[in-house]
Parts: sequence; structure tokens; C-alpha cells
Amino acid sequence: MVSKLTSNAPIGIYDSGVGGLTIWRAVRAILPQEDLVYIADQAKVPYGDRSLEEVRGLAEGVTRFLMDQGAKLIVIACNTASAAALKYLRDLFPDYPFVGMEPAVKPAAEQTLSGKVGVLATPSTFQGELYASVVERFAHVVQLYQATCPGLVQQIEKGCLTTPKTRQILDKALEPMLKDGVDTLVMGCTHFPFVISLIREIAGEDVSVIDPAPAVARQVKRVLEARGLLSGRKSAGQKVFWTSGDAAKMAVLLPKLIAVAGEVGQLRWEEGMLSLSS
Ligand code: DGL
Repeated sequence: MVSKLTSNAPIGIYDSGVGGLTIWRAVRAILPQEDLVYIADQAKVPYGDRSLEEVRGLAEGVTRFLMDQGAKLIVIACNTASAAALKYLRDLFPDYPFVGMEPAVKPAAEQTLSGKVGVLATPSTFQGELYASVVERFAHVVQLYQATCPGLVQQIEKGCLTTPKTRQILDKALEPMLKDGVDTLVMGCTHFPFVISLIREIAGEDVSVIDPAPAVARQVKRVLEARGLLSGRKSAGQKVFWTSGDAAKMAVLLPKLIAVAGEVGQLRWEEGMLSLSS
């Protein structure tokens, strides 16, 4: 049962790990007065190599937990979890506001001059129906190139944003598509904008890189506005961070990734349910 949503309730933002913080940052920038509850399911990261069924179960567990915390809207700040579970969750909770993600091929198709667009995302995202529908809509307009960047999510989870190994992973993923004339790159995984400088360095200044975070944040604002759920508070909203993984490690990463210091609370999985660790 979803209880009545109220404007002073928090927004829930969820990813398998720290990737969704790229969305958190964009939401915070345009809605500073909102309370934000962020969940990193780091006990299960990376999601990208798991089956869509498994990710769907995890996304449902996190969603139920965030609803129990009274969240007035949930942002699935993870392309993989959106691919696996967005439709399922909307069917399960038809009146509840979810904002999800799909690779931002539309703006890329509008921008590209070479007609060649590269999408960087996880294997599960490429297997999902959301991506299939993106291909259906745009494959006749532009030529799409896909790269999964194996190991990149794990590097970002460790905070290794500029190390030789991270560079090597990106070099390998980008080289073939750049050689072929791709001039627009879509960040189809929320972790990847954390290495956008390195991507720009490798790709060169003639290649545009599309980070969907500002558009997702605007969508969050629109949905809250439409439902009369924007907070009327004048002061800054609270920031709550939780992880199912190592809370101390995540606390160390927050200042590095989003220039915010904060405590990280501990969650644990038990029989498919997420709960606060006492
Ligand atoms: N950040 C996620 C995404 O947008 C998932 C990465 C992973 O856990 O594999 O797809």
C-alpha cells in the first residue's frame, strides 16, 4: 500500500552504487530545498552483469524500502535498473511517481553531424526493452555504436577516475567507434559522467558527450510540480545517504565525487527485503 504523498516528504534516488550521485548532484542543483534520500545498493554492484530478472527483484526491494521511508517520488538513477524494472514498478504501483532513465539517444540524434552516435552502457541495459525501443526509434536516423566498458563501473566505485587502468578501459571502448567517425557519445550508465573529463580527453574536442543528468533533474521537477508535491521550504533540504555495501568506504567517496561530506547509513538485505542495520 502506498500512503498519501506529501510535499514535505523526501525524494528517493537509487542506483546500484555511486553512479546515481551524478543524478543526485543535478537534482540538488535545481531543487536545493528538497530532502534527498540516496540509496546505493553496493552489496550488489555491478548490476550490469546480472540478469534483468535479478535486477528487477533488487529494484523492487529498494523501491519498497524507499516507500516505507515515505518518499514522495523515486528516481531510478540507474539505466540498468530502469531497463529491468521501470515498467514493472509502474505496473505494480500505478499511482506512484517514478522517474527513470533510458540512453539519451534522442538529443544525440539531433546533434550529430556525422550521423554516428556511440552509446556507453552496461550489458543489461543493452538487453532491455527500453534500449530496443530506442534502437527502433533512431536506428534509421543515425548509426548506433555500443560499448559496455567492462570494469569501468568497478573502477568508479573505487574512486579511480583517472588511473591508467580506467584510461585503458575507455581507450579500448572508444577507439573503434571514434575511428569510424562517431561524433556524439551518450552516457548510458549513470556512473560514467564521473569520468567525463577523461572521455573528453580521449575523444577530443570535436566529439560531444551527452550527460542526461540535467534533463532527468528537470523531469523530477516537472513531475513534482504537476502533482503539487514541490517542497515549499525556504531552507536547504536534508541529505541522507544509505548503502547496502561498505558505509565507511562510501563516506570517503562522497567528497571526492560530489564535493559533499556526509554520514552514510548501513542497510542490509535479508530474504529479498532491504532494512536498516541496527
Ligand atoms: N549506474 C548504473 C547504470 O546506470 C549501473 C552500473 C552497474 O551497476 O553495473 O546502468
